[in-house]
Amino acid sequence: MSSDRKTWSVKASRTANQATNPIRAIVDKLKLNPNATKPLISLSIGDPTIFGNFNVDPSINDAVVKQLNSFKSNGYPPADGTLAARTAVAQANNHSAAPLTAHDVILANGCSGALEMCINVLCNEGQNILLPRPGFSLYASVAATRFVESRYYDLVPENNWEADLVHMESLIDEKTSAILVNNPSNPCGSVYSRQHLEAILAVAEKYHVPIIADEIYCDLVFKGNEFFPMATLTTTVPILSVGGLAKKWLVPGWRVGWILIHDRNNIFAEINVGLHQLAQIILGPNSLIQAAIPDIFEKTPESFFQDTIKQLEKNVELSMREVSKIDGMVPVNPQGAMYMMVRIEVDKFKDIESDVDFSAKLLDEENVVCLPGECFKYPNFVRFVITPTYDRLEEAYKRIDEFCARHRK
Ligand SMILES: Cc1ncc(COP(=O)(O)O)c(C=O)c1O
Repeated sequence: MSSDRKTWSVKASRTANQATNPIRAIVDKLKLNPNATKPLISLSIGDPTIFGNFNVDPSINDAVVKQLNSFKSNGYPPADGTLAARTAVAQANNHSAAPLTAHDVILANGCSGALEMCINVLCNEGQNILLPRPGFSLYASVAATRFVESRYYDLVPENNWEADLVHMESLIDEKTSAILVNNPSNPCGSVYSRQHLEAILAVAEKYHVPIIADEIYCDLVFKGNEFFPMATLTTTVPILSVGGLAKKWLVPGWRVGWILIHDRNNIFAEINVGLHQLAQIILGPNSLIQAAIPDIFEKTPESFFQDTIKQLEKNVELSMREVSKIDGMVPVNPQGAMYMMVRIEVDKFKDIESDVDFSAKLLDEENVVCLPGECFKYPNFVRFVITPTYDRLEEAYKRIDEFCARHRK
């Protein structure tokens, strides 16, 4: 018996110590003003359900109620998901250029759970993964708990947030385990063209690096843009695509995500086995929602998706019109998803030092919350969520306009 067991000494694991949310530390600098007289408007939360204007279609509720009342969907589902649910996901995402069967689908605990499994299966401690900058912070958080290095490739705002491919290429070495591509993007709201996705695939092909395609905002694209599932644009690069019900079906709290294994050339043979093994550890989405998935896919009317997009387009139009008028703020036109990035021209302000300072002062003075770009590793920008109600957005932009006028040189 070791002599150091004489007293209590319980330490958090290395994994827990690595498990930090980079946004938390930045958001903690934003303090609510207890004396605020104006009602709080949040442009920071990427949950479309909280404002009451984006609601599920009744058919989606009916699908779940049917399962609840069947008394047949209360048991443990198989680790990778029920065959019926996986078949439905495979069919919904099947494409002649990227065929899928139920065996290529693994259900997970939200898209976050799917991403965690993808990183876990592809990356070992000491390897690196290429992530977009600006990008969703979860990728780096998961990588850190696996002691995997995050390397960031730049996205270029002047170029519709396309990836700087020369930069991407320069980051690849023998320890690179995957390139993560998020399209449509949080926080950028960009939707990549076929040509750009093909150019990224060419880099992956050249260096034999697999791709994790985060397509949780698939189909949430505005007029004039088209969403291309990345796997439909290659026959050679192996891709793990992740998605879920959270955004397109507006039910992020239901925690349903999936991994689509696209592997035409048996390169992912071990990865396929590995993912099924990882799935054994924690069961994915709860049994009721899994059982409802076939009905949800079959019965959600097309008009539900169109209404969501119409509402987002209206909010984008308002956001671009109002924010473009504000001297010192330069919005980048979103093409999809639920977000808009806005450049803060810090040198036009007399007393605003940075994006974090902008967000902190805006909250303090106007009771409007937005996330500083630093949360996405991209300073001098702020991210606005475009899902609040139209009148709330109007009010927010009015307050931001007044705020900027007060602080301009
Ligand atoms: C780009 C991106 N990927 C993944 C997720 C996680 O999705 P889920 O809520 O299904 O875990 C989000 C959530 O906001 C996201 O923005």
